[in-house]
Amino acid sequence: MKTNLFRGRDWIDAELDYTKEEWETMIDVALYLKRKYLMGEDTSYILKGKTLFSMFFNQSLRTRSTFAAGIQQLGGYYVELDPGKTYMPARKGYDIPYKTERIKDVAEMLDRVGDALSIRMYGPPAQWIYGFANATIKEFAEYSNNPIINMECDKYHPTQALADMITIKEKFGGFKGLNITMSWAYSGSIEKPRAVPQSVIMAAAKMGANVTLAHPAGFELDPDVIAATKKFSKQYKGSFKITNDFEEGFKGADVVYPKSWGSVPCFTYTDESGKTIKQKNHDEAEKLNNAATNWMTTQKQMDLTDQNAVYMHCLPADRGQEVSDEVIDGSKSVVIDEAENRLHAHKAIMALLMGGRL
Ligand code: CP
Repeated sequence: MKTNLFRGRDWIDAELDYTKEEWETMIDVALYLKRKYLMGEDTSYILKGKTLFSMFFNQSLRTRSTFAAGIQQLGGYYVELDPGKTYMPARKGYDIPYKTERIKDVAEMLDRVGDALSIRMYGPPAQWIYGFANATIKEFAEYSNNPIINMECDKYHPTQALADMITIKEKFGGFKGLNITMSWAYSGSIEKPRAVPQSVIMAAAKMGANVTLAHPAGFELDPDVIAATKKFSKQYKGSFKITNDFEEGFKGADVVYPKSWGSVPCFTYTDESGKTIKQKNHDEAEKLNNAATNWMTTQKQMDLTDQNAVYMHCLPADRGQEVSDEVIDGSKSVVIDEAENRLHAHKAIMALLMGGRL
């Protein structure tokens, strides 16, 4: 295994920055580490003595528990830095005396005393300004020699996408000819990032699958993500289509992944200088959401899928809104397999980026 291709790199916009072959290596390494874990083999030599620092600006169950367990299973240490208890890391131009600390200083300090830093930030800590959290994580990367790992920002959730690709590979053996639908689903919460759908459609297209994106009008994803998905579909000989018809996304699908995300007015948009172009509009977002309460996955929609189809969701799911209990607890649901694979995905990312001995 050529692990030196990965050592020291960041995992931030991974669907864009890592090649198809590198994604395949990540999946292979994750499955190798999963086999070792299931066989009870010792893997504590892989990252012996290395430290992962972790910063969550938002809540988390799966990402937090699996990064913490993963680094320790590889022989390293996990140190969680609660941004409320440290000084709040701030980008250049956002300093508040004795409340915040400039990201440059935080990153350079942590660089000296540990081996990687993982960060989650989206939504309120980034004032719902689309792209602000992604830029914040990149500012850490600018001043850090150690790998920076994006544990979900307002644009991408690449550790989730890797776990999802591992799960699909396990269920179907590969991606060629596979019909994967990423669909919007209704939720009573109108404020959610677009990170999961954006990462999943790009990753699935990069792996060569036939990707369908289904959502009501008003829930369009970032045009740059749509352009990249189209480009990958062409390059890797899959296909990509967008529909505003909920049930069309289920017809004949092998994989359905219905989850909610914020509508276009859920976010504030700025130009490159930081000037507001379009302000978040709560009333408009609520109106769009309330018009789409019928986008809940029930058995009726699942009956339209292929007989061997799987239902995916990154969790947490809004039961009774995004999905019925019957579906998420049903025989086609692989949501716990996906969550389990977060552990193995994160171990692969850390082992490869932090210079593990595989
Ligand atoms: N899917 C996911 O990222 O879960 P958590 O928010 O619990 O980390």
